Amino acid sequence: MPLVCLTDFQAYAREHLSKSTWDFIEGGVDDCCTRDENTAAFKKIRLRPRYLKDVSKVDMRTTIQGAEISAPICIAPTAFHRLTWPDGEMTTARAAQAASICYITSTYASCSLEDIVAAAPGGLRWFQLYVHPNRQINKQLIQKVESLGFKALVITVDVPKIGNRRHDITNQVNLMQNLWLKDLGSLETSMTRLPIILKGILTKEDAELAVKHNVHGIIVSNHGGRQLDEVPASIDALTEVVAAVKGKVEVYLDGGIRTGNDVVKALALGAKCVFVGRPILWGLACKGEHGVTKVLDILKNEFHTSMTLTGNINASPFQLSRLIGKGGGSGLRHQGPGLSIWGQCL
Ligand SMILES: Cc1cc2nc3c(=O)[nH]c(=O)nc-3n(C[C@H](O)[C@H](O)[C@H](O)COP(=O)(O)O)c2cc1C
Repeated sequence: MPLVCLTDFQAYAREHLSKSTWDFIEGGVDDCCTRDENTAAFKKIRLRPRYLKDVSKVDMRTTIQGAEISAPICIAPTAFHRLTWPDGEMTTARAAQAASICYITSTYASCSLEDIVAAAPGGLRWFQLYVHPNRQINKQLIQKVESLGFKALVITVDVPKIGNRRHDITNQVNLMQNLWLKDLGSLETSMTRLPIILKGILTKEDAELAVKHNVHGIIVSNHGGRQLDEVPASIDALTEVVAAVKGKVEVYLDGGIRTGNDVVKALALGAKCVFVGRPILWGLACKGEHGVTKVLDILKNEFHTSMTLTGNINASPFQLSRLIGKGGGSGLRHQGPGLSIWGQCL
C-alpha cells in the first residue's frame, strides 16, 4: 500500500516499531486529552477560500530568524531518534538539509552533535536546550553548539518536571529521568550570541515576560501533550500569544500538525512557521531518510494545494497580526487580508 498522507506513516510505524518504542513516541500524559485535542482542534476550524485570484505561481518560501527556508514547515526537537532508525539524528539532519528546512536538534539526541553536523553540514539547525542547574554545564554546551554552527538556541520551558506518562511507567521506560529546568533564572542572554527562542509558551502572561526579556522568538507548544494534560491545544493558544507579543518577536507553533490545511490555519492565526514532531519519527521508522523526506514532501505538497485553493500565493503575507482580525458573528472567527478562517469553536 502506498503511503499517501501522514497518518499512513503513523499506521506503518505502529505496525513496525516495538511496543515500548511506539508507546514512548505516541504517548501523551495522563488521559492524553491535550495530545488528542492538538489534532482535533484543527478540525474545528473552517477555511474561507478565495477563488477569484491568480494562483498560477505559489511561493512557499519564508524566513525564520532571518534564514530562508523552502516552506514554513520544520522539524521539532524530539529525543532518541536511534530508537526508530539506526543512524538516528544523522538521518533526520540529512533529510532536513535536502528539504531546505530547519531541524531543531534535541538535547537528548542519540547521535553526537559532531556527527549530526558532519552528516548535513549545510543544513539550517537550531539546538534545543534543557537548562541545567549547573551554569557551567549550560555554558559549555552553548559554546559547543555555537562553534558547531547551530543558528539559534531553543529553550524548552515546560519541563520543570516530567509529566505523568503512563505508558512509559507501565513499560518501565525511564529514558528522560533527569530533565532539569527547575530554574530558568541562571540562563542570561549574555551567555550566548545566538537568538533565543522559548518553546512551550501557552499564555499571554508568559509571552509578555518572554518579550520583556528580549527573546527572539516563541514556539507555542504543549510538548505534544506530553507535559501537563488538559491545557489548550496549541492552535487554540496561538491567538492569545500572537496578540500579546504585538509583532515584536516571531511566533511559531508545534503540536498536531498533520496536513497542509493545518499549516495554513496556523499561519493564518499568526504563526510564522510550524514545527512537526511525531510524523518525523514515523517517517524515520519507515525507511529512514527516504521516509522523512516523503513525510516532508507530502506536507509541503498539501500545503501548496491548500494555499492555492484558499487563494494565497505567498507564504510570507500570512504573517502575524496582519492576518488576525476581529471574531464576528455567523461563525466568522478570524479574518485578514490574505486569508480568513471560519470557526466553530469560538
Ligand atoms: C518522542 C518525543 C520526544 C520528544 N522530545 C523532546 C525533546 O527532547 N525536547 C523538546 O523540547 N521537546 C520534545 N518533544 C516535543 C516536541 O518537540 C513537540 O513539542 C511535539 O512533538 C509536537 O507535537 P506533534 O508530535 O503532535 O507534532 C518530544 C516529542 C515526542 C513525541
